[in-house]
Amino acid sequence: MKDNTLAVLLVEDNPEVASLMCAMLKKAKSVRFDVTTADTLESGLNLLRTQDFDGILLDLTLPDSNGLETVRSVHAQAANIPIIVLTGVDDEHIATNAVREGAQDYIVKGSADINGLIRSVLYAIERKHAEEELRRARDELELRVIERTEELQRINEFLAKEVEERKETENQLRIANSRLKETQAQLIQAAKMEVVGGLASGVAHEVKNPLAIILQGVEYLERKTDKDDKSVATTIGFIRNAVERADNIVRGLMDFSSISQLNMENQQIVPIIEKALMLLKHQFDKQHIKLVKKFADNLPELLIDRNKIEQVFLNLLMNAADAMEQGGILTVSIYRQTREQANSERKNEVLIVQIIDQGTGISDKVKDSIFDPFFTTKRTKGGTGLGLPIVRNILETHKAVIEIKNNPDRGAQVLIRFAL
Ligand SMILES: Nc1ncnc2c1ncn2[C@@H]1O[C@H](COP(=O)(O)OP(=O)(O)O)[C@@H](O)[C@H]1O
Ligand SMILES: [Mg+2]
Repeated sequence: MKDNTLAVLLVEDNPEVASLMCAMLKKAKSVRFDVTTADTLESGLNLLRTQDFDGILLDLTLPDSNGLETVRSVHAQAANIPIIVLTGVDDEHIATNAVREGAQDYIVKGSADINGLIRSVLYAIERKHAEEELRRARDELELRVIERTEELQRINEFLAKEVEERKETENQLRIANSRLKETQAQLIQAAKMEVVGGLASGVAHEVKNPLAIILQGVEYLERKTDKDDKSVATTIGFIRNAVERADNIVRGLMDFSSISQLNMENQQIVPIIEKALMLLKHQFDKQHIKLVKKFADNLPELLIDRNKIEQVFLNLLMNAADAMEQGGILTVSIYRQTREQANSERKNEVLIVQIIDQGTGISDKVKDSIFDPFFTTKRTKGGTGLGLPIVRNILETHKAVIEIKNNPDRGAQVLIRFAL
């Protein structure tokens, strides 16, 4: 609407009706109607194509179109402009259908007074505007909802990715942390070994000679004292035991600190184990320990120090025997294993020595300490706690790895891997 003027297209083939309508509309006081007339559908449509109108007054019975078809054609051409259908007295049925087809309202020709006509046109225009406004608001809302949904989806995806990345980082941190802990444990172990090693050789050498003298003295007293005096003999027996125990520790310490002098030779490992087993045969028999040997054929030679490796097996087999006071089966296996190496074409060949006992196993409480120097659960039975630290030291100088764990059912097992 410009300057309170409403442009109206009047499509009416009856010139008398047309001029009557024009005259009535001109009488409006609140607005000014600027009426353009057309007497056929075609000329009406042409006008709609070239000019802007605020409303259309449409007769349904035109020379070139009839009934609802007229409404459809005009509505198709100008969907945004309100249409008020003009009908005859007996066309009320068609009129309501016309409203269904998109017309805003209808006026029965001849019945409308001036005010009724004007009001009807104004209301129709008003209603159409409100409808349009509503439609625009709805479209806008829909658009906003779509935009917001897309935005939320984007945020969602972003968050999901973020969570994924965070999980990955967390995982990496966990791995790094556990590696750090491992390295830390190794460093502590190495530091302990160095301190103990250094102290050990000094103390051992200092204590060795006095011990030898005490032992000689004990032997002398044993010879010289009255054999019938039981209490003296018992006391001397105690002293002898204590001195032997001390001597044992001293020897262990010296072993522990003197592993740098190695005598390496290429040789078979089986004879070395056989010798250790033979040395312990008496003890095994005494404890009802049944030995099972599973040695593979054609085993390769290893570059090793025969005496040191024998000492390793003696220590491990003695530990197994100590754990099997009630007897049981002791299984010693030697075999070769090929493992695929990650990220490499090369295969990893190892020789494995496995000692499986049916003893007490190792409790969770002590399992982290068994390689510590002087750690023993057998102190009252003469344990020194130097066996496993010595074993580990010797194996380290042979680039071999040792692992001790409990069996699923009972007892413990030792696994040694020599690189080939
Ligand atoms: N085969 C085994 N079964 C159960 N416990 C074992 C075994 N081997 C070692 N241990 C545990 O590890 C500890 C340390 O062993 P080791 O260093 O040889 O010292 P020791 O034998 O003098 O106690 C033992 O006291 C024992 O508690
Ligand atoms: Mg031992």
